Amino acid sequence: MLAQRPDQDHRERRVRLALSRAAHHRRRRRVAAAVLGSVVLLLSVLIGAGSGREGTWDPVRLRDGASASLPELNLQQHARRAAEAIATRKDEHTMEQAAVARALRRTPFVRVAGDQTRSVALTFDDGPGPFTQRILDTLRRGGAKATFFILGNQVSAFPVPLQRALAEGHAIGDHTWNHAPLTRLTRREVASELTDASAALQGAGAPAPTLFRPPYGAFDDRTLAAARRRGMLTVLWSVDTTDYQETSARRMAKRVLAQVRPGSIVLMHDGGGDRTVTSRALPLIVRGLDRRGYRMVTVPQLLMTNPPSPEQDRVRRTPVA
Ligand code: NI
Repeated sequence: MLAQRPDQDHRERRVRLALSRAAHHRRRRRVAAAVLGSVVLLLSVLIGAGSGREGTWDPVRLRDGASASLPELNLQQHARRAAEAIATRKDEHTMEQAAVARALRRTPFVRVAGDQTRSVALTFDDGPGPFTQRILDTLRRGGAKATFFILGNQVSAFPVPLQRALAEGHAIGDHTWNHAPLTRLTRREVASELTDASAALQGAGAPAPTLFRPPYGAFDDRTLAAARRRGMLTVLWSVDTTDYQETSARRMAKRVLAQVRPGSIVLMHDGGGDRTVTSRALPLIVRGLDRRGYRMVTVPQLLMTNPPSPEQDRVRRTPVA
């Protein structure tokens, strides 16, 4: 019994010591983690800034670089560039919006534009995300403009690719807040899916969206009316790349090039999963379309040059993501 006392004492002291050291270490660890976190963040921003070059791209790095905790300065810079680009294109933007409004008076939704000129609209859904920057790089290299249907809940995590898309003259549309199947929601839920996403876009510096794409391509008269009431034209597609289930970039590009016609609206995804195949297929698609004499324009630009027929096909042709 007696022999145990010093042992116990020793153990208690050790425990006390360990606890106090642990508390001390915890504080130190917190400081160290904060310092390390700032360094990592700074590095990821620096790397992110140089990620436009081929070969330096890394989705994980980009995702971290595009996190909501980016330094204010960087965000403000991107927001300013987006605002400047919108201001410079003000007249074109007004004309394009008039074309959208004209289309909306003729038809509540567009699946395909007219065939008046050799133009097509590439569209990307479910972003912005870690693959958006690479897609923007490819579009820039190919002199192509596209339309991004944005998920509202992605905006705060990836403000930079969204603002870059705006700055580089791409069009932005509403793809709901949460990728909800709208035909199964109440009227009030549908309304908030649309308006919450629209608010997130405008909060990031985008103009109020006038284009809308329903998740899963699922819509009914109520969905169309909800979009229309908010000044949004529902935009579907005539070429489905089925990129969400594709494993070969070459096969995907080949299929797109075989199906495309003047006035086509092409569905792709820059978010909602691993978009490696899409981002690898895009350079082949852009090059192939260019060789075939196609201009790649935004949906509003397409509607301006190729006004759609009021007879649009209501049948949903393919399962979609
Ligand atoms: Ni979608």
